[in-house]
Amino acid sequence: MFRKIAISAVSALALTTGAAFAAGAEAETHDVAFSFEGPFGAFDEHQLQRGLQVFTEVCSGCHGLKYVPIRTLADEGGPHLPEDQVRAYAKNFTVIDKETGEEREALASDNFPANTGAGAPDLSLMAKARAGFHGPYGLGINQMFRGIGGPEHIVSILTGYTGEEKTEAGETFYENHAFPGGWIKMAPPLSDDQVTFADGHPSSLHHMAEDVAAFLMWAAEPHMMARKQTGFVAVIFLVLLTSLLYLTNKRLWAGVKGKKHV
Ligand code: HEC
Repeated sequence: MFRKIAISAVSALALTTGAAFAAGAEAETHDVAFSFEGPFGAFDEHQLQRGLQVFTEVCSGCHGLKYVPIRTLADEGGPHLPEDQVRAYAKNFTVIDKETGEEREALASDNFPANTGAGAPDLSLMAKARAGFHGPYGLGINQMFRGIGGPEHIVSILTGYTGEEKTEAGETFYENHAFPGGWIKMAPPLSDDQVTFADGHPSSLHHMAEDVAAFLMWAAEPHMMARKQTGFVAVIFLVLLTSLLYLTNKRLWAGVKGKKHV
């Protein structure tokens, strides 16, 4: 019985993954090997710092990051900037003081400002709100192998413009194969060498897109490393517990089954 079930489960998996890889060929979201993937993956703080620079110089013109406290830029495991740089960085923004109701320079204890002026969505949770990989046939098997694909979706959007545009009802749309529907209202925000990195890191469109996507992944899930660690400890604990229970069970039943030793 068990063998029958196992065989059909394995063949079902083989069939669906076969289809997944076949379908993946024309998928619009391209896989990116980010440093934070896999059970031991971690954010690369230099990449996060570059991503922060791209966000600040380009994206923050239209997008907010309202759920992210500026002080977390100093966190270990995140961009890990020195405290004084974070305080200086906060001064880039102005916020409305909650008590006085007046505009003032932002402090490290404030959150990044919200920014919806251009009709652009807040990016705080975007890397977790979008799924880059789907299917096949609504089963989500693709995501088991490649992850949900939020940051990949962002990279694909930023690099997925075809150059075509159209105007409909007074609004301009830009053709983008990574965006559902194929037309997005965001003008291509990045082009080669738009940002100059202090460490001389290459700033091609692809490099910047990956850096800012990694930064937005950190923004959406700053404690990813801690979560992975907890998961890992839990798995080790469960493996131990399972083997102990197995041995206990063997011993308890040893007499009945006619065995003298475990
Ligand atoms: C000129 C303003 C502007 C700039 C600059 C800009 N965006 Fe956008 N962005 C928009 C608008 C408007 C939308 C909504 C598009 C729509 O819904 O058609 C959007 C949507 C998005 C989306 C959501 C796509 C989705 O799946 O819904 C992402 C991700 C995004 N932008 C990332 C970025 C990043 C990263 C940068 C910086 C490199 C950036 N944007 C710079 C205006 C901008």
